[in-house]
Amino acid sequence: MTEQKATNVTWHLHAVSKTDRCKLNGHKGAILWFTGLSGCGKSTTANAVDHKLHQQGRHSFVLDGDNIRLGLNKNLDFSAGDRTENIRRIGEVAKLFASSGCLTLTAFISPYRADRDKVREILPEGEFIEIYVNASLETCEKRDPKGLYKKARSGELKNFTGISDPYETPENPELVLDSDNKTSDQLADEVIAFLDNRGIFSV
Ligand code: ADX
Repeated sequence: MTEQKATNVTWHLHAVSKTDRCKLNGHKGAILWFTGLSGCGKSTTANAVDHKLHQQGRHSFVLDGDNIRLGLNKNLDFSAGDRTENIRRIGEVAKLFASSGCLTLTAFISPYRADRDKVREILPEGEFIEIYVNASLETCEKRDPKGLYKKARSGELKNFTGISDPYETPENPELVLDSDNKTSDQLADEVIAFLDNRGIFSV
């Protein structure tokens, strides 16, 4: 639990309600929380979903691992404590996006179950959609888009998820995507069909 340091601060209600924002957009806000190993296709799939949603005239945005680590979270490394803080901050930011009525896609390894569950806990029921992008370590290592698995295997890169650091597979995700056998375009269609079934596109 992160300590509340500031005192004399109170929560302010917004003049425009969440319902009004959703009405304007024509859909609900939600977080689509993609999780999985580095190279499993989180970012590619999230971007494919984002692109399709945008083409459908929906309000969406991707918060992406490396980008956030170059800005908001530039003071965090890959130690267990900093990964937890990374996910906590992203969870809070994604919550703000979702309450603005945005379909918010996040693409972070988020290796610890407890960290993902904490984000779920701060959101209203149904607004946190956990999507496990399932690709075998073998597939991710073969793809190795950034050459990081190679560095991890040689010992040049320490604490690398899946090699020398843990990844805790989701136990009850809303959706599991088979990234070993399907294209990101197929996976994106599965995500959009899921959102439709869930009633996300109606207000
Ligand atoms: S998380 O574990 O805190 O959720 P995050 O998704 O932000 O990780 O960042 C992961 C990305 O950082 C990877 O895709 C990879 O490009 C890069 N990276 C650099 N070092 C590591 C490491 N030790 N473990 C995992 N990813 C790393």
